[in-house]
Amino acid sequence: MVSRTKDLENLDEEALGAMIDPQNLPRHVAIIMDGNGRWAAQKNLPRIAGHRRGIQSVREIVTFSRELGIETLTLFAFSNENWQRPSTEISQLMMLLERYLKQELKTMMKNEIRFRTVGQIERLPASVVRMIRSVEEKTEQNKKMTLILALSYGGRAEVVDAVRRIMEEFQKEKISIKDIDEELFSRYLYTQEVPDPDLMIRTSGEVRISNFLLWQLAYTELYFTKTFWPDFRRKDFLQALLDYQGRERRFGLVGEQASNSGSMQNASSPGSSGKRFLEDLNGGEEREF
Ligand code: FPP
Repeated sequence: MVSRTKDLENLDEEALGAMIDPQNLPRHVAIIMDGNGRWAAQKNLPRIAGHRRGIQSVREIVTFSRELGIETLTLFAFSNENWQRPSTEISQLMMLLERYLKQELKTMMKNEIRFRTVGQIERLPASVVRMIRSVEEKTEQNKKMTLILALSYGGRAEVVDAVRRIMEEFQKEKISIKDIDEELFSRYLYTQEVPDPDLMIRTSGEVRISNFLLWQLAYTELYFTKTFWPDFRRKDFLQALLDYQGRERRFGLVGEQASNSGSMQNASSPGSSGKRFLEDLNGGEEREF
C-alpha cells in the first residue's frame, strides 16, 4: 500500500471533492479525535478552548459525512482512561457534551441522523445520561446516517462486558459452548447493530489505536494525520477518504481472489463520477475545476 497523502496535500477542497468516487465510500468511518489539548497549548489557551474548537470540527464532519452519504460515523469522545484526567477537565467535557447534544438535536432531526452511543454510559453524570437517552429515543427512527459517540469507552472493557453477558446467557442455558463463534460474539459487543469500520482516522500525529474498537478494527484501513482535531475540517476528511479509495482491501485473500469476490472495494481510481457527485452536492450546478 502506498499512501497518497503526499500527493493530496496541496489540493484544495473543490479539487479533492472532484476526485472522490461516490461508489467507493467507506460505509463506516471511525475517528479518534486527538490533539485538542496540544492545539490549545500552541496558542497559549486553556485546554477547554481546544475542546470547544474541537466541537466545531465535530459539527462540520458530522454534516459533511451525511452530505457524502456515509452510513455510520463513530467518534471517540471520551475514553475509560480519560476518567483519570483532572476533575475540572472532566466536568468541562461533560458540560460541553450535554450542551452539544441539546443544540444538535434539531440538526440531527433535520438531517435524519440517528444518534447512538457505545461505552459504559452509566458512569457518566446522571444529567448527561438523561440527555443521551432522550436524543437516542427522539432520533431512533432517523434513517440517513448513524452517529455514534464512544463515551466512557474502552475496547478491552467492551470485550470483557461481552464475555460477561455471554456467560450469563450460558448460565441461563440460553446458549451453549458450540454456539460461540465470531458472529455470535459480535452480537454481544456495544456495536452489534452496525458494520465494522472501513476506515479509522486518528488526528494529531499519534500512531496508536489506544483501546478503540479493538475487535471491530480487525480489517479496517487506518489513516493517521498530524493535523490536530480542532483543525480537522472538510478538506482533511476528503484527503483521508481519497487515501482510503487508493487502497486495495484484500481481507486476507490474494489480490485476484479479492477482486473476483468483490471484496477489493477500493482499487478504482476516482474519475468523472466524482465530478458529477460534487456537482450534486453543490445543488446540481455545473462547475469547472
Ligand atoms: C483528545 O484531545 C480529545 C478528547 C479527549 C475529547 C474529545 C472531545 C471533543 C472533541 C469535544 C467534545 C465532543 C463532543 C462530541 C461534544 P486531548 O485532550 O487528548 O488532546 P492532547 O492529546 O493534545 O492533550
